[in-house]
Amino acid sequence: MSVNSNSALPKHIGFIMDGNGRWAKKRGLERKFGHREGAKTFRKISEYCCELGIKYVTFYAFSTENWKRPKDEVDAIMSLFESYLDDVRSHVDEKIRVIFIGDKAPFSDSLRNKMIALEEDSKNFDRMTLLLAINYGGRDDIVYSVKKIAEEVKKGNITPDEITEEMISDGLYTKNVPDVDFIIRPSGELRLSNFLIWQAAYAEYYFTDVLWPDFSKKDLDKALEDYLNRKRRYGGI
Ligand code: FPP
Repeated sequence: MSVNSNSALPKHIGFIMDGNGRWAKKRGLERKFGHREGAKTFRKISEYCCELGIKYVTFYAFSTENWKRPKDEVDAIMSLFESYLDDVRSHVDEKIRVIFIGDKAPFSDSLRNKMIALEEDSKNFDRMTLLLAINYGGRDDIVYSVKKIAEEVKKGNITPDEITEEMISDGLYTKNVPDVDFIIRPSGELRLSNFLIWQAAYAEYYFTDVLWPDFSKKDLDKALEDYLNRKRRYGGI
């Protein structure tokens, strides 16, 4: 089966951008140079997903746990986000909607305002929706949703018995975004690492040893060919 614009392609792909540090180490470079290359791969792969007609793509860029890294590494990642946001008008021209998932509160005012402005400027675009998971954690996402439901129970608008899966989904950062179909994790690690844990209930997974900065369009074609050969049964037979 050919990958190009195949209607059986996943509607929503999630990428765990892993292996930047190892990519840099292999070259005797500081880790931040791996993130810089990783950011280039992010641009290239997001554009390619758009060309392929994938409607939703989520990139795991920074987890709620990543703040534990050394300050200079965190600063380098924040500065990559900021230069991306300064340079992202091309997404607006290409009619790509951008949504940031995760808690924006800990970011600098400058970064947060640019994130909000981009979400606002791109909110009516529908060629592709690009979700950037920044300060994101799957458990935190579920807690955020459950708190909103608890408020409704407290106000007497619903009873605990009336709580449904849809209500939890609707309270997540990914509200109105279909569940992720396919999760790709490069760099040889076989974990989900708190990424879209609710939304990935029926997702297919693809793992490869390629490090994220080296991940190419060909690697994505290969992953998608693998996906197209799988039978998804959603608990049925
Ligand atoms: C994981 O690799 C990567 C991160 C925690 C940061 C990812 C950030 C980027 C690719 C920059 C994104 C930029 C934009 C504009 C979205 P790792 O550092 O854990 O790699 P390792 O496992 O080899 O140490």
